[in-house]
Amino acid sequence: MTGPCHGFNPPLAPHLSGCCLLAGDSILAELSLLSQGDPDPSTGRLFTYIYEAGDDGLRRLAEEAYRMLLHTNMLDPTVFKSALALERELVGYALRLAGGVDEAVGTATYGGTESIALALLAAREEYYSRHGRSAPAPKVVAPVTVHPSVGKAAWLLGMRLARVPVEPGSMKARLEAVAEAIDGSTILLVASAPNFPYGTIDPVRDMAELASDRGILLHVDACIGGFILPHMEALGEPVEPWGFQVEGVTSISMDMHKYGYTPKGVSFILFRESRLKEHTIYVDLSWPGYPFINTTLLSSRSAAPLAAAWAVYKYLGDEGYRRLAGMVLDARSRILGGLAGLGFRSIAPVESPLLALTLPSQEDLLAYYAGITARGWVLGLQTPVKGLAPYNIHLTLSPVHQRVAEDFIEDSRAAIEEGRMILARLEEELASGDVLQLVTSGGSLAIARLLETLDPGEAEALARSLVVEVYRG
Ligand SMILES: Cc1ncc(COP(=O)(O)O)c(C=O)c1O
Repeated sequence: MTGPCHGFNPPLAPHLSGCCLLAGDSILAELSLLSQGDPDPSTGRLFTYIYEAGDDGLRRLAEEAYRMLLHTNMLDPTVFKSALALERELVGYALRLAGGVDEAVGTATYGGTESIALALLAAREEYYSRHGRSAPAPKVVAPVTVHPSVGKAAWLLGMRLARVPVEPGSMKARLEAVAEAIDGSTILLVASAPNFPYGTIDPVRDMAELASDRGILLHVDACIGGFILPHMEALGEPVEPWGFQVEGVTSISMDMHKYGYTPKGVSFILFRESRLKEHTIYVDLSWPGYPFINTTLLSSRSAAPLAAAWAVYKYLGDEGYRRLAGMVLDARSRILGGLAGLGFRSIAPVESPLLALTLPSQEDLLAYYAGITARGWVLGLQTPVKGLAPYNIHLTLSPVHQRVAEDFIEDSRAAIEEGRMILARLEEELASGDVLQLVTSGGSLAIARLLETLDPGEAEALARSLVVEVYRG
């Protein structure tokens, strides 16, 4: 084949070759160049946003399965039957992990935020079915540690969210505060298993009892824990009960694209009763087009993530997931032990694969963060909360961290001293700097320091305008 597309393999169809401006290979080369700056999760250098099994075979299998169903649309399962079969099987697995009761049902979504939105939607519709649509806006009560997607869903759905304190030390929802916040328009409590900032599991049993007593619903956000807590428990770890075995838990979100080790785009929302799922299904059979029946917020969407998730689940099974949970626990004890030797302590009870660690001095902690980032490790930096937590680093642990634990600890040893200079430079830039430049080049550390100088309203407005600028390019 000649012409501009000759390098593409497989060759482009002849009718396309005249109109393409770049040969396929050079398009892909450009994409590769664009993504060169992105960190590679398989290296084990990321301790946030990523859940990495560190298994090349598993990765290739997921990619191949993903590619196979890339063009399958989950919009209509009567046409694309494969998507329905995959969803049924994976929901079944999720329900089993969540201690599912016979009547429980579920839906595959594209992520935790979407699952949580459906949990709130079900609760809102339950409230309106009891009180009528003219009742005051329904209210959700949750500890401050609950993921912001709960607030986002409340914002989208016209609901109110009351955030209540957690117990300093245990970092779990304070039951009295939850009870006090419940009023006549409260329909839903939310607990986390675990929460992201501190990795602790809320007192689900107590909250479920409270919810049952008050005749309201309880959602457990197990987006992080759903696919790993049962396997940790099978290995002998003590795990606070969080699933449907707890009477009073009415819905559960759990993400397969976290500790299910599958590419992004797969989460589940599970409901104890089918009535709640029915509340979330949008139906329009009266418009002039196709029968519009949506179980999720999104409508058309590729079945590729679901196919990858199914393949990963088939490959790993309970045994594989348990082995990976064991690797996470081993990485956790090595890293906790190594960092304890450098003066770090956990600011919360260690109950999950998430760690929140700090140093006795704030200066040292910030210098450490600057230094370890400069050495190419990606960690979370969490800001202080008065009366609850100092500045701390967040680590989401994955199986791959077992392999890199010693290197990480070694680099951590040098990081505080190396970071002091970087921190000093950042402080100078903060004093003089262009905020946009600072935030894009200084990352989390610059953002955290900047936040200290602003009140929350100012910070939110600034964030919105900066984001518009950043995406404008
Ligand atoms: C506890 C918890 N819930 C929900 C979510 C939202 O998940 P997603 O990013 O898949 O929408 C996250 C994301 O980190 C989380 O940590």
